[in-house]
Amino acid sequence: MRETVFILDFGSQYTQLIARRVRHLGVYCEIAPHETPWAELSVHQPRALVLTGGPSSVMEADAPRLDEAALAAGVPVLGICYGMQLLADGLGGRVAGAGGREYGPAVLEVDVETPLFDRLPGALRVWMSHGDQVVEPPPGFQVLAHTANCAVAAMGHPGRRIYGVQFHPEVVHTLRGTEILRNFLFGVAGCKGGWSMADFIEEAVSRIREQVGAGRAIIGLSGGVDSAVTAALMDRAIGERAVSIFVDNGLLRQGEREDVRRFFRKKYPLNLRVVDASEQFLEALRGVTDPEEKRLTIGRLFVEVFREEAGRLGEVGFLAQGTLYPDVIESRAAHGGPTAHIKSHHNVGGLPGDLDFELVEPLRNLFKDEVRELGRELGLPGEILSRQPFPGPGLAVRIIGEVTPERLGVLRRADLCVQEELEKQRSLYEEVWQSFAVLLPVKTVGVMGDGRTYANVVALRIVSSTDGMTSDWVRVPYEILGRISNRIINEVHGVNRVVYDISPKPPSTIEWE
Ligand code: XMP
Repeated sequence: MRETVFILDFGSQYTQLIARRVRHLGVYCEIAPHETPWAELSVHQPRALVLTGGPSSVMEADAPRLDEAALAAGVPVLGICYGMQLLADGLGGRVAGAGGREYGPAVLEVDVETPLFDRLPGALRVWMSHGDQVVEPPPGFQVLAHTANCAVAAMGHPGRRIYGVQFHPEVVHTLRGTEILRNFLFGVAGCKGGWSMADFIEEAVSRIREQVGAGRAIIGLSGGVDSAVTAALMDRAIGERAVSIFVDNGLLRQGEREDVRRFFRKKYPLNLRVVDASEQFLEALRGVTDPEEKRLTIGRLFVEVFREEAGRLGEVGFLAQGTLYPDVIESRAAHGGPTAHIKSHHNVGGLPGDLDFELVEPLRNLFKDEVRELGRELGLPGEILSRQPFPGPGLAVRIIGEVTPERLGVLRRADLCVQEELEKQRSLYEEVWQSFAVLLPVKTVGVMGDGRTYANVVALRIVSSTDGMTSDWVRVPYEILGRISNRIINEVHGVNRVVYDISPKPPSTIEWE
């Protein structure tokens, strides 16, 4: 049985980070909702449990708890922040309000020798973020460390291998945090490690084979990283029975359809169908100016095209998509109730559920950087793995107002100038999450040669981000901005003005619609 650690999520903003750290240490882990019954977890014979922090207080009646059977099972446990308070409260210790939130750096002083702080100095810089704290550890537990404001900053029961820390070892501000996690996993829980992306591939492949059986699957290939990696995995698992479908919706960047076709026919051959549905999409978008109506129209058409294509292929029972862990969390909106509806996201990797297929989602426990690593392991080259995200509705959400073939032409040419100029700046390009042009429904007066012009305005959007949830505009050197602007104004007929968008997200969003 594979060595597995479960991270029970109590709503911490750092849950993903804990998972990433554990996997980087070579131990496979999965995040599970805190209320997951022990019976469900124990099937996997977990090596350890990590209880995350969270926004609640154990002193509230409806505070999130864990299945008590998990603590009685003899499995090593590390409780972090709220997780530690939960351990204290559940095992007979005492938790109290700390008289205000403690947020920020603190110096941890280690009081006793313990495997948890093995090979670490007696004083450690740690990161605190809590309201309550443990004031009395449960019977049998030792106080392992304290800080100036927190008498029980770490506690442990070596015999039961249950530990708790009030600070956050997973964040970079806790300077030796990864070593603390390593001590817990290897020193306390006896993990062996050695898990890698190569193991992931093997497991994912056998899971896909098990799920799909002798059936067939289609994959919505957008040419982006997530769908490309999904398609490569499906290809490895079921070969010809996986059909990747690339839909040209007429809203793609310059040369995109040909690039994707060439790549997945010649360089990394997949069972690929390229469908030209551009006329259908542009026809449906005629006269549509409202952003949500655009998105919904495009989403609906994607579904239609997929259904049609699947019908042509005969019996297809499965749809594989590149859902990542952050997508899972977002759609679960686990903590804090339903999220506000900002935009109806659509892409070939996020099709509405009314397609009659069973979903295959081999990447649903991974983060973007892990997917890139997986892609490398699968032999996908950098030209695919370093691609910028591109929204499913494509250029339609970058043309403010009506989408027409003429306006698409203008935007494509302007966009190409942005790409070409940025690609010349490799180090800058790597810092950039997305870079693109937006065509505004505004005309302004200009002068070209001796004549007056009255033409379109293009906005440049160049942002940095780690997950698309928040972002900032990139401080692109003026010279490069100048070069992009000159090229667009000189080369793109119908544009006489270029502006740079300097809005962070939030409160703006990355795409303009
Ligand atoms: P926003 O505009 O919401 O975008 O700040 C955040 C990230 O998501 C991308 N995006 C989409 N991706 N389908 C997608 O697959 C969509 O409908 C969609 N809309 C926005 C956007 O490019 C950015 O990376």
